[in-house]
Amino acid sequence: MADQSLSTPAVRYDPAWRRRIADGQKPAIAAIDLQHFYGQGELKKQVLFDNNLEIYPGEIIIMTGPSGSGKTTLLTLIGTLRRAQQGELHVLDRPLHAATNADLLSLRREIGFIFQAHNLFDSLTATQNVRMALELADPNGKKSEQTALARELLQAVGLEHRVNHKPKQLSGGQKQRVAIARGLVHRPRLVLADEPTAALDEQSGRTVVELLRRMAKEEQVTILIVTHDNRILDVADRIVNLVDGRIRSDVLVQEAAIVSQMLLKCDVFKHMTPRGLAEMADNLKSEVFAAHQRVIREGESGDKFYLIRTGSVAVKRGPQESQIATLKSGDFFGEMALLTGEPRNASVDTLEETTLYSLSQEQFQKAIAEQASFETEIRTSLFDRQ
Ligand SMILES: Nc1ncnc2c1ncn2[C@@H]1O[C@H](COP(=O)(O)OP(=O)(O)OP(=O)(O)O)[C@@H](O)[C@H]1O
Ligand SMILES: [Mg+2]
Repeated sequence: MADQSLSTPAVRYDPAWRRRIADGQKPAIAAIDLQHFYGQGELKKQVLFDNNLEIYPGEIIIMTGPSGSGKTTLLTLIGTLRRAQQGELHVLDRPLHAATNADLLSLRREIGFIFQAHNLFDSLTATQNVRMALELADPNGKKSEQTALARELLQAVGLEHRVNHKPKQLSGGQKQRVAIARGLVHRPRLVLADEPTAALDEQSGRTVVELLRRMAKEEQVTILIVTHDNRILDVADRIVNLVDGRIRSDVLVQEAAIVSQMLLKCDVFKHMTPRGLAEMADNLKSEVFAAHQRVIREGESGDKFYLIRTGSVAVKRGPQESQIATLKSGDFFGEMALLTGEPRNASVDTLEETTLYSLSQEQFQKAIAEQASFETEIRTSLFDRQ
């Protein structure tokens, strides 16, 4: 359901790719074979099964799934509101499966919770409700500074005109936004949100999502959102679908990430630095070809490298143009002529409407040059060590 509303098909997330581009950075959340049970004895019921999940700092993950599939349970385990019973769970560098209560307490201060039940205090104003989170995190903090921060956050969620209102004087959506401000005001490193935009109109939902996006991209905050709200899917880096307590799919949805994951599968690029890859992804041009169109012709000189984003192509060779291969999404072609300087050794025709990403010869050579210097670096460092 979630994937259908995206304009381009998503691509299955490859953890190996992420580890590669993480460049030594550790995941903010890592679940390894995580299980969870409710109840005891005969009533014991398993609700999470063998879940493996890695989320890196600065990533926004949206989790979807049918009611009762275990989304909130997983969120509460990560948020230390429940104990992980079996398997491993690492959150912000702490192994929760082996943590003491004091560890959990200190970890909780670094997490921002936005859960559906608002739990606002009726006798406190919006500002006071938000400031409460700061007072808990830093009881000795300066009140005037905490008030200013609380106001800033209320403004960021579009409630600057409601700062002195009490919950009873606010609409459902406004209360929800106060709860969101409260969950974010102490600058958490990790935000766990359960249906944060459910009660919000389109515009307030956008404001909140934009705020989360900025926190992720500018401050490397890790964000995990459980939602059924199709309007906000575009903010996600990945969409994880949980069904019957198991992760059914984990897909990348941001185009730059999809492309760099695809590029790493090509030998020519596999030693590129994360920065080089991102630069290359930026330089790709997208072109849509109708069905049965020729993309390259055997014998012509080559000036581009192609990556198939969607659709499929046939590779043909010889006077009879016999088909020697079919290539599909994630495959690439055209690199040989660029590598050897010889004419194209095959023709390529689309089999259906196909979106191709292409890289000019110049950019391609630059990528090769970077890889060459990488190899030289490796060789030099090996040599130096001897
Ligand atoms: N405290 C609890 N005690 C016993 N069973 C529970 C408890 N909380 C949840 N469950 C059960 O665990 C399963 C997963 O529940 P969970 O709340 O994690 O689902 P969810 O995916 O968040 O659903 P929804 O989309 O409706 O919020 C359900 O079968 C639910 O009935
Ligand atoms: Mg739930």
